[in-house]
Amino acid sequence: MRKDGTRSGESLQALPKAEVHVHLEGCFESATLESWARQAGVPMPRPHERLFSFESLADMLEFLDWACGLASTRDRLAELAYGFCRRLAADGTGYADLIINPKHWAPWQGRTRELIEALDAGFTAAAQDGLPPVGLCVSLLRTQSSDEAVELVENLIAWRHPRVVALSVDGNEAAAGRTGPRFAEAFRRAAAAGLRRTVHAGESSGPEGVRDAVELLGADRIDHGVRAVEDDRVVALLAERGIPLGVCPTSNLTLKLYPSIEAHPIDRLRKAGVRVSVNTDDPSLLATNLPAEYELAAAAFGWSDEIMRDVARTSIDASFANADVKAHLKSALADWQS
Ligand code: ADE
Ligand code: ZN
Repeated sequence: MRKDGTRSGESLQALPKAEVHVHLEGCFESATLESWARQAGVPMPRPHERLFSFESLADMLEFLDWACGLASTRDRLAELAYGFCRRLAADGTGYADLIINPKHWAPWQGRTRELIEALDAGFTAAAQDGLPPVGLCVSLLRTQSSDEAVELVENLIAWRHPRVVALSVDGNEAAAGRTGPRFAEAFRRAAAAGLRRTVHAGESSGPEGVRDAVELLGADRIDHGVRAVEDDRVVALLAERGIPLGVCPTSNLTLKLYPSIEAHPIDRLRKAGVRVSVNTDDPSLLATNLPAEYELAAAAFGWSDEIMRDVARTSIDASFANADVKAHLKSALADWQS
């Protein structure tokens, strides 16, 4: 802690933590995209200075489709996976559950298993070089059909790839309407096969989306979930069941959920007994990193070291890391000093 009461960037880098809400689709470097687009003879969608400027979630999701379309080879996927682990190390993040949504990756349609294997090669090489471990959360898109969802889950169950830790659902709930019932069967099958479940809700849906995530999809964890704050009964449901939220402050500000960090509900939720962690969502596209997200919340809400430690502990407990990784991170966390 500095004399003026603020924490240095280095002390937040050194805070032992996990990240539980981050998309590989949100980790492209602009230089990589420019190089791949040039090689493919594909025009850039907008000028360099505005490449990562988004008006809305729909706008950002459309960009993801374009960017992922350039990742056309196994080597490029492995390079992205390795680069993601480098990013974790730079942030001082000891483990991440990384969301990957096969629907965004046009060159890999019908080849999800190969997509997972190519990424796995990058994560394995990174771990061999001492970089942090990663579990994959394979995601459905909210606009997919119930049959497509069941097909993906049946494949994940048949493949049993050790890198895959969870089923996820992301995308734009505002465009898809209420889709909890549509995905209930896929999530039921995932649970029965021992896959963990993480659900985007309470970002482009209101508190009713969060309730559906809990009651219809059996979510172990909710990505965002912040709009639960609009219904006290949903807040109580999360608190009573101990269902953690993977909150992404900068993402919510950039995509215009809240006008300022002071208006963001993360601290109200935490004080109401909801387990919250801090995350980046799409760090490269949103020009953020994990220490910066902790710094933003801590400065806005005056979080003490003990609160920082609690939030970091929630990130580790809420992750789908194995017991050894969790124990190692929690012991390092007990020794952390800002
Ligand atoms: N995919 C990538 N980022 C997302 C977000 N913030 N919400 C829903 N789907 C996403
Ligand atoms: Zn997300």
